Amino acid sequence: MAYELVRKLFLANHKSKYIGPHRVLFYTHKLLCSYGGEMKIFLDSSDVDEIQKAVDTGLIDGVTTNPSLMLKAGRDPREVLMEICELFSWDSSVSAEVSGDTAEDMLDQADDYIQINPNITIKVPCTVEGLKACAALAEDEIPVNVTLIFSVAQAILAAKAGAKYVSPFVGRCNDNSFSGVELIRAIAQTYSVHNVDTNILAASLRDVHHVSRCFMYGAKVVTMPPKIFWKMYDHILTKDGLAQFNEDWTEVLESIKAQEIEPYHD
Ligand code: E4P
Repeated sequence: MAYELVRKLFLANHKSKYIGPHRVLFYTHKLLCSYGGEMKIFLDSSDVDEIQKAVDTGLIDGVTTNPSLMLKAGRDPREVLMEICELFSWDSSVSAEVSGDTAEDMLDQADDYIQINPNITIKVPCTVEGLKACAALAEDEIPVNVTLIFSVAQAILAAKAGAKYVSPFVGRCNDNSFSGVELIRAIAQTYSVHNVDTNILAASLRDVHHVSRCFMYGAKVVTMPPKIFWKMYDHILTKDGLAQFNEDWTEVLESIKAQEIEPYHD
């Protein structure tokens, strides 16, 4: 029965229709790992076209949005969220930020957002009212991302309120003369001492170096603007090396042609 269930999940989430026993085993392992040690990459964006391009690489695990990004998108946030969610399979996370002065206001908005798609994660600010809303949502097994985290103390409260994710704002820490990546390290250490299962989602990243450091210091997830994601591929030595390989391969083909040797084909 478990075999059939995994098989159906695979078929629902993949274009390939071939699934033999080996693939079922591999996919079961992947499903189990997705709750454990995998490094997840989220995009910090409300631009559906940009998100789609990056999702096509197969390396994107989710999305974070916020009111400023929604303002930039200039469209109905509900519609934007719906389109983003449709780009992912069932086990993803798309953060939708609620606003309001009271926990009740936030919960009302959350009620509306969670109807959109099971992938919706509700994002609340790290305030008294935000954490009250977090606790209420967590009680109902709704995943919550507590945002605007700037200290270990805030990360502790968010974990106690049942947050699935906490979002320390690395770049904004640096803008205010304290180290964002050191904050990631301190939260990771604190969580590890106490076996806390809230995931650190490093946010407000400004460059590729932040991405590597945050993962190295214990973030489970990093969220970044699409332009930083594309920069992760870049290395001058990769570019130089590839240019040389391409040049040499052209020479190989030319010399084969000159010797009139048939090139090898499968
Ligand atoms: C996180 O979820 C926020 O949306 C985001 O990372 C904030 O980044 P910024 O400081 O670049 O605005």
